[in-house]
Amino acid sequence: MLRRTAASVHDYRLTAQSILPRTLFEYVDGGALDESTLARNTADFEEIYIRQKVLRGEKVDPAGPVLGHIASFPVALAPIGSLGMLYPQGEILAFQAAHAAGIGACLSSFSVCSIEEVMPEVGDGDAFQLYVLKDPGRTEEILARATAAGFRNLVITVDTTHPGMRDRDLRNGYRSAARPSLSMLLDCAMHPRWFARSWRSLGRGLGNFAHWDGVGSGLIAQAAYMSRQLKTDLTWSDIEAVVKRWPGRVVVKGVTDPEDVARAIGIGADGVVVSNHGGRQLDGVMSSIAALPVIASRYSGEVEILFDSGIRRGSHLLKALALGADGCLLGRSYAYGLAAAGADGVIAVLEMLRKELTMSMSLAGVTSVEDIKKRHMACVSLREARPNVSALVGFS
Ligand SMILES: Cc1cc2nc3c(=O)[nH]c(=O)nc-3n(C[C@H](O)[C@H](O)[C@H](O)COP(=O)(O)O)c2cc1C
Repeated sequence: MLRRTAASVHDYRLTAQSILPRTLFEYVDGGALDESTLARNTADFEEIYIRQKVLRGEKVDPAGPVLGHIASFPVALAPIGSLGMLYPQGEILAFQAAHAAGIGACLSSFSVCSIEEVMPEVGDGDAFQLYVLKDPGRTEEILARATAAGFRNLVITVDTTHPGMRDRDLRNGYRSAARPSLSMLLDCAMHPRWFARSWRSLGRGLGNFAHWDGVGSGLIAQAAYMSRQLKTDLTWSDIEAVVKRWPGRVVVKGVTDPEDVARAIGIGADGVVVSNHGGRQLDGVMSSIAALPVIASRYSGEVEILFDSGIRRGSHLLKALALGADGCLLGRSYAYGLAAAGADGVIAVLEMLRKELTMSMSLAGVTSVEDIKKRHMACVSLREARPNVSALVGFS
């Protein structure tokens, strides 16, 4: 349970920090190298002002379609690896919390609970995330299992041909060690709330691959092994082959350049996620929110444009929708909630963000997601002092 009433995603982050062993918290919280893109992802939202129109007197409804289904507000849970280490059965709890809040979720292929464990518990398979692996037979095995499980959307992540270089993970030995080090074990022992709830699942690894030869045992070894299995020479034709093979909708996740969105449309993708992986992959790439407007102005209506990276407030959702996103994925925001209080924490974070969005819409004088989209950039303006950002996001 939380010690004080949490008022924001930031409060959940602090609670997660106090509960989780440092190695785990920094795995969730950290970004690539100097973390400059990680920082800009959220900071750049503050360069955008909401335009307020008062006394509209209309009822606000934030519901909107995401991943082919109407959500109670226009978000879904982003795929996050190893959720089951933050809280036992974390993947199942996150899906159940999402459904309780009336939104969808995407299961990471690097999950602790396997596809076959998650699906019977959650009923509705909104989306499964795929990393294309070096071995085509193994990629096909995962695709076949995801197809059999009945996931409607396949989210193919394309910005991870190399695992992100994260200084915090390196310092902690996460993904470079073959087994937990003495300092990791001490770190776990010094976090009794996490240890008391998690000790039974400490032996678990990445459920989808645990039966594969060479993968090793336990999360540390398996995460290290699997990060070496990512297909480093991945091309658009590999993605096209997956699009052709998958029976449902396909969303390409991890694009920030308009030309890449054109390529995704060209190979038949139904959606893209404008995302820099929460600043965890290429440090120095522009913030996702700076990349969004140009992409939306060119391709809105041709493909579902989802957005993630840096969302910590409901007002961030309003800004992303106003800049052309059809919907948003939440990453660390819900992971902090899960680490803090399991499914209750995820539900609380979702409720908080939904309320913040609804209030922001109401105070800004917009009534629906459609209304935001219709008024588009008229909903927001930029701080004049930042002409460089103006140029980036396409404001004159
Ligand atoms: C701990 C962690 C693990 C992640 N694992 C995956 C993953 O397995 N697959 C994937 O496509 N994206 C993964 N992501 C990226 C998220 O899907 C999403 O793009 C990112 O978290 C959005 O940024 P935000 O956390 O600032 O909201 C991960 C992110 C975090 C924080």
